[in-house]
Amino acid sequence: MNILVINGSPKGKNSITLHTCLFLEKKFPGHRFSYLVAGQKIKALEKDFSPALEAVREADLVVFCYPVYTFLVPSQLHRFLELLKASDIDLSGKAATQVTTSKHFYDVTAHRFIEDNCADMGLPFLDGLSADMDDILYAFRIKDHSMGAMMNNPKLKQKMGGKMSEGMIAPYKKILE
Ligand SMILES: Cc1cc2nc3c(=O)[nH]c(=O)nc-3n(C[C@H](O)[C@H](O)[C@H](O)COP(=O)(O)O)c2cc1C
Repeated sequence: MNILVINGSPKGKNSITLHTCLFLEKKFPGHRFSYLVAGQKIKALEKDFSPALEAVREADLVVFCYPVYTFLVPSQLHRFLELLKASDIDLSGKAATQVTTSKHFYDVTAHRFIEDNCADMGLPFLDGLSADMDDILYAFRIKDHSMGAMMNNPKLKQKMGGKMSEGMIAPYKKILE
């Protein structure tokens, strides 16, 4: 499936929400992911929206990926949706969903906004993911913690003749990943 991630964060590639989608891409290697920098490039897209339309035409699934800003989507994504709706692009056969990060403070209003906009465009909508802004960081911290615990595990140390190294526990690291 062709999955288009519309990155609505003004932080571009430094967006934690984008990194959540990059994580999903790793988890689902059977699908083709592409990314559209919408939030950070909205001024350029206002002048020429054709790269966005081309990207949407190629997609089977559109993922609106954005941080919740003041109870809603960032203004750049709001503008992107206006441009998309004004374009009258044929969206038949496609579906949409959303991935957000926030502190869950009024994330529901942002999610509802995207859902309602998709309904306006006749774009079938699949339930999305509202992740906490720290979720992905915790995932890495848990991994680091588990690695540290393994390196210091006396039983494992003994089993490996007291010669523990990162390389020796690499297979376990793969499982944790
Ligand atoms: C200007 C601003 C407004 C925000 N408003 C909300 C909000 O209303 N609700 C919430 O839960 N988090 C809010 N946040 C937190 C962001 O959603 C959170 O930091 C998010 O993970 C940033 O994602 P990004 O790195 O993809 O831009 C806000 C952050 C900023 C900078």
